[in-house]
Amino acid sequence: MEDFMRGKDLLSIDDLSLKEIEKIFSVAIDLKKRTLTDQVNNPTLPGRTLAMIFEKPSLRTRVSFDVGIAQLGGHSIYLQPSDIQLGKRESVADIARTLSRMVQGIMARVFAHQTVADLAKYADVPVINGLSDLEHPCQALADLLTIYEHKNRLAGLKLAYIGDGCNTCNSLLLLSAKLGVHMTVGCPEGYEPDAGVLARSRRIAEGTGSIISIEHNPFNAVKGADAVYTDVWASMGQESELEERRPLFQPFQINSRLVSAAKDDSIVLHCLPAHRGEEITDEVIDGPQSVVFDEAENRLHAQKAVMAVLM
Ligand code: CP
Ligand code: NVA
Repeated sequence: MEDFMRGKDLLSIDDLSLKEIEKIFSVAIDLKKRTLTDQVNNPTLPGRTLAMIFEKPSLRTRVSFDVGIAQLGGHSIYLQPSDIQLGKRESVADIARTLSRMVQGIMARVFAHQTVADLAKYADVPVINGLSDLEHPCQALADLLTIYEHKNRLAGLKLAYIGDGCNTCNSLLLLSAKLGVHMTVGCPEGYEPDAGVLARSRRIAEGTGSIISIEHNPFNAVKGADAVYTDVWASMGQESELEERRPLFQPFQINSRLVSAAKDDSIVLHCLPAHRGEEITDEVIDGPQSVVFDEAENRLHAQKAVMAVLM
């Protein structure tokens, strides 16, 4: 494995150059091929340990990092919220310094993005953002890898993200802009993606030919889309806002009528967990255009690649 990314952090998609994104994708595709041909053990990271810090629940992130590092010859330690109590039992800086003496990588799922930034600031080992309030970079890498596998290309495709302008949407904007994918966010007014991320994505897009737009009409947003994406209406930590959000987001539900406004051969993605009957109907998520479980599987392959190149 070439070393040009070794030791880097992955806090934001914006930490990655195009060359680095392409490297992650090519390693992911190679590792996936090996996994599927039963060459599961590819000991790229023998004896390496990944500390996994979680302030929030997780299925995919936890399992894919845990299985992924094991398949690469290392192992993980799961640190649940009550174990280390980030910033309460001791400071984030001291946790980062301590872990750096014992493990070779840290993956963290946190509320405030500043927490992963602080972990990275004080750790001597790579820190990987496993979701913060601002970004979900590993998810976006798995998502665009999935779209690439189904469409055989990325530049020039149109991705319609429908719903809340949340962490997932922010990372998809940055990654789409870098890869020349056109991305339209269809969201209720007041639920646009982060203003800084949007501005940065538009700046990147100027250099790659990607078109980034915001729409408040979901049908306009999905028009001509090659891929339609959604996420929950209220992210972890915002659950108390769900009732207030529900009527605003209802017109943005991914149902058969809305999907029929996209291209006939469009694919449907959702980062999961899905709130079936809210942001997406059973008919669509279980329907022929849905690739959500390919997408979930690709978390494993994309993150194995991330760990292999960073750790
Ligand atoms: N998509 C995703 O990150 O899933 P988990 O919350 O289950 O990790
Ligand atoms: N936007 C969602 C993603 C879950 C994987 C959340 O933050 O809860």
